[in-house]
Amino acid sequence: MIDDIARIEADAAPRIAAAASLDELRALAAELLGKRSALSSLKSGLGPLDPDARREAGTAINRARDVLQAAVNARRAELEAEARREQLAAERLDLTEVTDATGAGHLHLVTQAMERLEDVFVGMGFTVAEGPEVETDWHNFGALNFPPDHPARDMYDTLYVEFGAPGSTLLRTHTSPVQVRVMTSQPPPIYMVMPGRVYRQDTPDATHMPVFHQIEGLVIDRDITFADLAGTLDTFTKAFFGGDFTSRLRPSYFPFTEPSAEYDIRRPDGSWLELGGCGMVHPNVLTACGIDPEEWQGFAFGFGLDRLGASAHGVDDLRDLFTNDVRFLSQF
Ligand code: PHE
Repeated sequence: MIDDIARIEADAAPRIAAAASLDELRALAAELLGKRSALSSLKSGLGPLDPDARREAGTAINRARDVLQAAVNARRAELEAEARREQLAAERLDLTEVTDATGAGHLHLVTQAMERLEDVFVGMGFTVAEGPEVETDWHNFGALNFPPDHPARDMYDTLYVEFGAPGSTLLRTHTSPVQVRVMTSQPPPIYMVMPGRVYRQDTPDATHMPVFHQIEGLVIDRDITFADLAGTLDTFTKAFFGGDFTSRLRPSYFPFTEPSAEYDIRRPDGSWLELGGCGMVHPNVLTACGIDPEEWQGFAFGFGLDRLGASAHGVDDLRDLFTNDVRFLSQF
């Protein structure tokens, strides 16, 4: 009987290893290990043997079963891995393959404007930085020389976030807090632009949105004057809009710049468009950011992107920029 068992095992092992599919393996396992298998019938024939021989044969049958079962399990794992590999290969998508370019989309108007602005400023020697949209009161106001409860805070209809102490966390109302983040994280000289999304409590209409985009500029170096600010903005105006555009600065007020100005551009038809604010960085801002105002000076500017992107394409309602109607967007 021991010989029979060894022969059954020796015959079965290569058949298990050769099973070509999971179905074939399942049928083979039933044949070799099931109730009607040769091993099972040997087991039911143990009765007439004497006790020692019965124990020896029983042990040998169990061992043979274990060996065959292990072989079946191993082959099943191989076949399953193979099936999985085949499935992955069959379902693989080549995402680099473009079959029909006519249906391709394009960047949003605002993104196009943002990228063109970045390109022009990078061409003028600026680098680009970004900051978070959820800001601390200190970055958005405190470090920018807005004392607590100062009326200038009313210039910004701030949306606060329920986080930390009441009033400590907000959706940034302008990109100027990124100035603070840049100045507190690297030493001057600094020549940087900072585009991004900003938030103010506002009812949407053709010229106002509660979410809009700005680009901030910051220069900190030695011996920087208001003339550098005016010259930089005028160079930018011509580079971005064209040589037949000019710019002007009008006196204004911001707590974080002194003196401060509004920046307007003059279109070739003689009409003026107000773009944003600018000025010489206030010494209190430099001090709050750990920069010595006796040694370093600079200027900053910030203007809205959305109106700029819209007017460049003759779009007269800012809400169209945000409804994402593909019939509108696909025109550009
Ligand atoms: N942050 C100001 C605003 O949004 C604009 C500004 C930026 C003014 C930089 C001066 C200097 O109104």
